[in-house]
Parts: sequence; structure tokens; C-alpha cells
Amino acid sequence: MFPQRRLFTFPFLGRGRMDVRMNQGHLLLAVTLIFCNSQLLVVANSWWSLAMNPIQRPEMYIIGAQPLCSQLTGLSQGQRKLCQLYQDHMVYIGEGAKTGIKECQYQFRQRRWNCSTVDNTSVFGRVMQIGSRETAFTYAISAAGVVNAVSRACREGELSTCGCSRAARPKDLPRDWLWGGCGDNVNYGYRFAREFVDAREREKNYPRGSVEHARTLMNVQNNEAGRMAVYNLANVACKCHGVSGSCSLKTCWLQLADFRRVGEFLKEKYDSAAAMRISRRGKLELVNNRFNPPTSEDLVYIDPSPDYCLRNETTGSLGTQDRLCNKTSEGMDGCELMCCGRGYDQFKTYKHERCHCKFHWCCYVKCKRCTSLVDQFVCK
Ligand SMILES: *[C@@H]1O[C@H](CO)[C@@H](O)[C@H](O)[C@H]1NC(C)=O
Ligand SMILES: *[C@@H]1O[C@H](CO)[C@@H](O)[C@H](O)[C@H]1NC(C)=O
Ligand SMILES: *[C@@H]1O[C@H](CO)[C@@H](O)[C@H](O)[C@H]1NC(C)=O
Ligand SMILES: *[C@@H]1O[C@H](CO)[C@@H](O)[C@H](O)[C@H]1NC(C)=O
Repeated sequence: MFPQRRLFTFPFLGRGRMDVRMNQGHLLLAVTLIFCNSQLLVVANSWWSLAMNPIQRPEMYIIGAQPLCSQLTGLSQGQRKLCQLYQDHMVYIGEGAKTGIKECQYQFRQRRWNCSTVDNTSVFGRVMQIGSRETAFTYAISAAGVVNAVSRACREGELSTCGCSRAARPKDLPRDWLWGGCGDNVNYGYRFAREFVDAREREKNYPRGSVEHARTLMNVQNNEAGRMAVYNLANVACKCHGVSGSCSLKTCWLQLADFRRVGEFLKEKYDSAAAMRISRRGKLELVNNRFNPPTSEDLVYIDPSPDYCLRNETTGSLGTQDRLCNKTSEGMDGCELMCCGRGYDQFKTYKHERCHCKFHWCCYVKCKRCTSLVDQFVCK
């Protein structure tokens, strides 16, 4: 459970209406989409676009000045308010989203759905309008990215409202070790990310039990799972002091886990994600109640995944045509599964790599550059 160590309170944001403040281009697009399919409204535009629009350095803006926040696309009303109050945080939210997207692409590089981004505004394209497992992962990893980036920015002294971690000394830390080096402020990062990322969901006011309500609950649950992953994987790190490496004195602090670990952890959560549906009382419940109900650390989804094999404008699937595959692998990266039985084309390409590496005393490694002709396979 998340320990309630309250350091800061964020301004209360009332329940607003769904954000309809889009620029004209998006509005046109959104209107077109509404006519095609009412469900497509869900994430036509999102704070994820912060990962795409480079945000200028915050020093350029006087705190409280409006231009930055009104220029950023993809923010909901509540997020825009937070932007005005915490302008210096916006760069890190953008960075966090970018880290999340990169990690998503790494974790799914060998899958039919490869987490590819489509354009600047909808970022992941229309596949996010389906409440699938993949969507669940995307929400979790981007929320995780924000916790990560904001926690670190606090430690580095980049933000005006937070500093080093003030987490309590762990009970099991040996008594003669010092606690309190400047740690990543994951407590603050968690809280800020909760306010910011969930703002867009909290503003929605869908009828209880509706499909849109189910999707909102799904998003909130997956955002939380992502934040909890970063929070729980943060650990104690220590450094030795004392006479010439005697390590008689140790200083310890709270440190974020490497983001790759967060990605791997959430990928496992993706594999074990729970299929849910909305109950008559307006809560998410398991489709198959022989399984254990998900905890706040688990991912949930409400829709089956679309077919990622073929390109489909309606679902937003890019298809796997022209994707690289591995001829000998029997896994998802193998040509059989990746190409969905359509077969593959083979071509030769030059591969450059480091080779004949030698260790030189002391201490470096010298390599040669080798070029070889290798076979590559791409899906038809
Ligand atoms: C995306 O944003 C970048 C940088 O802001 C811009 O150069 C590029 O043209 C944009 N692409 C699209 C498809 O809008
Ligand atoms: C695209 O996906 C939709 C929804 O699954 C399906 O009804 C439609 O037939 C698909 N279109 C094509 C061209 O495959
Ligand atoms: C993901 O797959 C799409 C569709 O095949 C491809 O265009 C894109 O380059 C891939 N993206 C990454 C990051 O591998
Ligand atoms: C292809 O898959 C095989 C079996 O899983 C593996 O040993 C090999 O390294 C893979 N090749 C590439 C280029 O990834």
C-alpha cells in the first residue's frame, strides 16, 4: 500500500466538463470522428503530445505567465490549470512521457503491436481508443515516466516546490549508516503525477455504468499501476566514506530504479492483465471471477485487442507488413507469428559491428569494426 506521507497538497481541482478546448484542426478532426464512431472521442488528443512538442526551458517564462500553457496542445482543462501553477514541471512531464514511450517501444519491439507513435497530436493513434491490454500498458508506462522524471527533477533542484526526498529512514538500515543523502523525491513525484495525469479522467462526467465510464475507470487504474511501479521499485542506495576506501561510514538515500526495470515489471503486468467489465453499480469487475481481483498494482483492460496483423484505418492498427522478423525464432518475433502466416521476403544487408576486441592493460578495450553480409527477413 502507498504510505500516506503527505508532503505537499495540490490545489483541489473541481470536476469540470470534458475538455473541448482543442484548436480548430483538432476540432474538425474530432467532429469527423464523432460522426464515425462516438467512442473515438476518448483520446483524440492527449497530454502525451508533450513528449512530441519540445517545451522551451522554463526559465524563459515568468511564473504565472500564460503563454506556455495556452500554447501546449493536448492538455485538459485541469491539466492546463496545473500547468499554470507548476510551469516549471512541464518540461519534466514531457520528458517523462518521452521516456515512457521509448521504453514501451523497447518492450514491444518484437511484438506485432510495437508501440509506434503515429503523429504529434494523437501520439499513439487510434488504437488507444480501444480499451485493450496494449492501451493499458501505454497509460501505465507514461504515468510511470512522469513519476520518474518529476522525482528526479526534485532531487536535482530543478523545481521550485520540491527538493531532496524526505522519506523516513528505513527501519532495517544498520544503525551506524547515515540516512539522508539527497534522494529522488518519489513521494512528490507520485503525488504530482497523480494530480496531473489523472486530472483528465477526473474531469469527465460520464453516466455511471456507461462504456465511457468503464474506460475512465480503466485509465485511472492503469495510471495508478504505473505510478506504483516506480514508487515500489525505488530503493535504498548507499555510498562508502571513510579512510581510503575503508567504508567505515556509509551514507544512504532513496534512489529510483533504472527505468528499464520499471518497463520489465510493467510488461509482466501486461502479460497478467485482468479482463474487466462494468457492473450495474458502476464498478469494474472481473469477466472471469475465478481469478483474483486485481490490486492497485495490476493492469486491467475492458476490450479485446484489435487485429494487429493487418493495417486497418478504423482500429488504427498499422499492420505488420515490412516489419523485420527472425526466421529461426518460434517466438512472437519469428516470421511465422510476426507475419501472421502471410510469409516474408528475404534480402541481404550489410551489418556493422565491433569485433576482435582486445583488452589492453590498463584499462581499455580496443575493437575492430567488422562488416558482414547478413540475411534479413521482412513480412509480406
Ligand atoms: C511534429 O512536430 C515536429 C516538431 O515540433 C515538426 O517538425 C513536425 O513537422 C511535426 N509533424 C507532424 C506530422 O505534424
Ligand atoms: C477493420 O476493423 C474493423 C473492426 O474490427 C472491422 O470491422 C473491419 O472489417 C476491418 N477492416 C478491414 C479493412 O480489415
Ligand atoms: C513499428 O511498426 C510499424 C508498422 O510496421 C513501423 O512503420 C514502425 O517503424 C515500427 N516502429 C518501431 C519503433 O519499430
Ligand atoms: C533469432 O532467433 C534465434 C532463436 O530464438 C536466436 O538465437 C537468434 O539470435 C535470433 N536472431 C536475431 C538476429 O535476433
